[in-house]
Amino acid sequence: MGKVVFNITMSLDGFVAGPNDGPENGLGDGGDRLFTWYFSGDTEVPISDGQMVLKVSAQSAELLKAAFASYGAGVWGRRTFDIAHAWGGHPPGSPAFIVTHTVPQEWVKEGSPFTFVTDGVESAIRQAKEAAGDKDVVIATPSILQQALKAKLVDEIYVDVAPVLLGSGVRLFDHLETKQFELERIHAIEAPGVTHLGFRVVK
Ligand SMILES: NC(=O)c1ccc[n+]([C@@H]2O[C@H](COP(=O)([O-])OP(=O)(O)OC[C@H]3O[C@@H](n4cnc5c(N)ncnc54)[C@H](OP(=O)(O)O)[C@@H]3O)[C@@H](O)[C@H]2O)c1
Repeated sequence: MGKVVFNITMSLDGFVAGPNDGPENGLGDGGDRLFTWYFSGDTEVPISDGQMVLKVSAQSAELLKAAFASYGAGVWGRRTFDIAHAWGGHPPGSPAFIVTHTVPQEWVKEGSPFTFVTDGVESAIRQAKEAAGDKDVVIATPSILQQALKAKLVDEIYVDVAPVLLGSGVRLFDHLETKQFELERIHAIEAPGVTHLGFRVVK
């Protein structure tokens, strides 16, 4: 059985999007700055079935390639699914389990990479683990991370810290109530335009 890992890019002050995010303003006001490192290097990393090509430094490329190779399924929240316009049908981390209250019928069809899960995060992770087999399940949105952490379902947290303070927006570590989580550092890697941090969640 693989692990449940979380991965996201965050500003140093803890935001993964600026304010006013939405389908017409993906990462919110000023939030595109978070992804500068994805497009500033000279090493290509194709993702989403080759529909998108990241251009990162050699250091970041090595990490990204290993991470994407380890993913057997992904779990996302519905807001990101809508904001990303369903990644044009090519989610990074496929098959993709989308946690939602309402199922978008246009994506319920033969060959769809999406499974819509309406009975919660624990169910989504259980289904994703079955689909992933020996590979890892990647979670990549804040609300899903928060719920999965509280349910003690997250094994590792990888945060790519962008060198910017956004000041406001969507906080990554929100809604965790007063719970405390102990972490063990796996790595801290300096790369051009980004610092890659990895932690194991102590259970
Ligand atoms: N910086 C990065 O690398 C990065 C990566 C990914 C996303 N983002 C950003 O993160 C933001 C979105 O994150 P978010 O935390 O606000 O939203 P999210 O996790 O993408 O989606 C939240 C939505 O998922 C559904 N949902 C969540 N838990 C549920 C449950 N237990 N049962 C049923 N439905 C549930 C609900 O939608 P419904 O009620 O509508 O079904 C909820 O509003 C966006 O700004 C996106 O651009 C940034």
